[in-house]
Amino acid sequence: MKIMVTGAGGQLGQELVRLPREDVEWIGLDRSRLDVADGEQCRSAVAAIRPDAIIHTAAYTAVDRAESEPEEAYRVNALGTRHVAEAAEAVGAKLVCVSTDYVFDGQGTEPYKEEDAANPRTVYGRTKLEGERLALEACSRTFIARTSWVYGAHGANFVRTMLQLASQHSVLRVVDDQRGSPTYTYDLACFLTELAGTERYGVYHASNGGECTWYEFAKAIFEISGIDVRLIPCTTEEFPRPAPRPAYSVLGQRALLRNGFKELRHWRAALEDFLKPRK
Ligand SMILES: NC(=O)c1ccc[n+]([C@@H]2O[C@H](COP(=O)([O-])OP(=O)(O)OC[C@H]3O[C@@H](n4cnc5c(N)ncnc54)[C@H](OP(=O)(O)O)[C@@H]3O)[C@@H](O)[C@H]2O)c1
Repeated sequence: MKIMVTGAGGQLGQELVRLPREDVEWIGLDRSRLDVADGEQCRSAVAAIRPDAIIHTAAYTAVDRAESEPEEAYRVNALGTRHVAEAAEAVGAKLVCVSTDYVFDGQGTEPYKEEDAANPRTVYGRTKLEGERLALEACSRTFIARTSWVYGAHGANFVRTMLQLASQHSVLRVVDDQRGSPTYTYDLACFLTELAGTERYGVYHASNGGECTWYEFAKAIFEISGIDVRLIPCTTEEFPRPAPRPAYSVLGQRALLRNGFKELRHWRAALEDFLKPRK
């Protein structure tokens, strides 16, 4: 199977193209090789590569900056996704579109189901939701995979930020009133690749299992790493940001189970694997 990856320079994209899969030929295109906001570039790249599937990870991911750059976020997350979807459809390729927990309003109290009403509260969330809609409209072989709190070996993320902060400070304050599910790029990349090998199209939630607050996540990071740092729980209000953060963004994985896939493992097991790689 030939799989093309958009946004191959990002943290998920880099993980995907490094996955050792004998049955997969990876063609990773980073932003310098494919700007998804350019429709003609998308058409010609996909027509030349003729992939069996495209895993579309490219996105405008600067959640706070998007509030002051809504046009640019729309151009990449909505129009860019439409371009990739149209190009996929033109060559009969499948499309795996990576989306986000930010399509929900974060007011829930139990894990969001795939069919729950979306109600994004940020520019980022609205443009990603529009990307989902345009992908489903333009490509008849579309999977939408929503994920959350992504971290891994490549690029900036919460785990790396915490480890770096702990090397400079002995006390850290971390938000304890937002709940979600941390997701390891390796587990997500494995699932997206498996998905691309099927024809079970539709909307999926794909986060590691279980849930925690950022404070609990940080506590686990330092416990597993054996780092002694004093953590103080604090509230979202103490860290005002331009884009409001969802208080609750746990994604239930019903579609995954319904379609015969295995749930992604618990977030803590994935974190242990990431921080203490197998010998
Ligand atoms: N990170 C999370 O916590 C999280 C949570 C939920 C969902 N997601 C979704 O997961 C996917 C992967 O995210 P990630 O964490 O890997 O983000 P990332 O590290 O920011 O990667 C996104 C990549 O897309 C590239 N990009 C931006 N504009 C582009 C354009 N016009 N054309 C082509 N490439 C472009 C970026 O390049 P530059 O760096 O050059 O801008 C970057 O390499 C995204 O769809 C994101 O919305 C992420």
